[in-house]
Amino acid sequence: MALCFQSAQGMNSKRRILTGITTTGTPHLGNYVGAIRPAIAASRNAGIESFYFLADYHALVKCDDPARVQRSTLEIAASWLACGLDPEKVYFYRQSDIPEIPELTWLLTCVTAKGLLNRAHAYKAATDANREKGEDADAGITAGLYMYPVLMAADILIFNANQVPVGRDQIQHIEMARDIGQRFNHIYGGEYFMLPEAVIEENVATLPGLDGRKMSKSYNNTIPLWLPEKELRKSILGIVTNSQMPGEPKNPDESNIFAIYQAFANAEETAAMRRAYADGIGWGDAKQKLFERVNIELAQMREKYEALMADPAQIEERLRAGATRARALGTPFVAKLRYAVGLRDLRAQPQTLSPAGFDSARVEKPALQPVVFRDADAFAFKVLDAKKTVLATKGGFADPKAAMAAAREAMAALL
Ligand code: TRP
Repeated sequence: MALCFQSAQGMNSKRRILTGITTTGTPHLGNYVGAIRPAIAASRNAGIESFYFLADYHALVKCDDPARVQRSTLEIAASWLACGLDPEKVYFYRQSDIPEIPELTWLLTCVTAKGLLNRAHAYKAATDANREKGEDADAGITAGLYMYPVLMAADILIFNANQVPVGRDQIQHIEMARDIGQRFNHIYGGEYFMLPEAVIEENVATLPGLDGRKMSKSYNNTIPLWLPEKELRKSILGIVTNSQMPGEPKNPDESNIFAIYQAFANAEETAAMRRAYADGIGWGDAKQKLFERVNIELAQMREKYEALMADPAQIEERLRAGATRARALGTPFVAKLRYAVGLRDLRAQPQTLSPAGFDSARVEKPALQPVVFRDADAFAFKVLDAKKTVLATKGGFADPKAAMAAAREAMAALL
């Protein structure tokens, strides 16, 4: 199996970080602390090229209310800009402005194993729920839900992102993007795609919601990010607490109010709040302090947000400009991929089938198969069996040849 390592786009450039935000909801405090704030901080790092986009095609899988998709797209775009994202320094765009993404989705669909998609958590959960109800396994499930992971792989692979910051629930999708990219590389005999890694931010807080469960729009327990001051206060006063009285010492580590406070406060403020808990601060006072602290951080951004929301034309223009920049990368890359799969100018010299070309995908696979891939700054290998189960893997090789030699040794040991 010959892999060539010259063709990957952006291979020697800066580390690329990419993430998408599905445009179905209204941003809440949990989104701000868990995604928006850390992403904007990371985007200021000079060694990184950031790609943030509004995943509005993904929104259609979950939501068939056009007004809501439009509204959410506007709100999320305005939120990121209000929180300080600099659209000149990062790639900030709307997925549906990049026609190369659905185009790549199809190319990837044609190399994606159907069985891989059958195993996707979201799809499996939906079929399991149907079976439990005694219905047909696929009842009410769209092909959009089924194809969701391929569209997401296209989002990531089109810009050859190295790292994808996501929540734990998305790890499988990143693994699938790796699988799909690797399979394309293998079938078409080149390192077209770099294989992305999921990045799970361990020190970023997950906020509890009003009822103490994780803040999430699916639990309907969120504190919307841009409530006017009075309503923000009211919402915070609604956080559920236990029935301890003022004056009773309280445990901050079991308190939702404290957990949210900590996500906004500095170390000193947090320590002071711990002492206040030990001294028996009442829940009403703790909520008031929380409101004040959150409001200090949000007040200025809220003004910007309101100004942006009042001027959708400005946001539209910025998103279009972002798409133009992103397409400057995506259009030539997809042209290369079209050529690779044989969607070619007919006047071009016809190429004989390469040994690593399309037909090899159709011939029977040997029982064991070595795969070499780039992993961070080094090369690695995997040995797969016919079902694509990884039987052996190791990284840290200086070049693909060394990785392949080690793969062959590992295979010999397995036979
Ligand atoms: N599926 C992601 C979510 O629900 C959103 C998303 C779409 C995404 N495309 C992406 C995230 C590409 C990272 C990379 O959170």
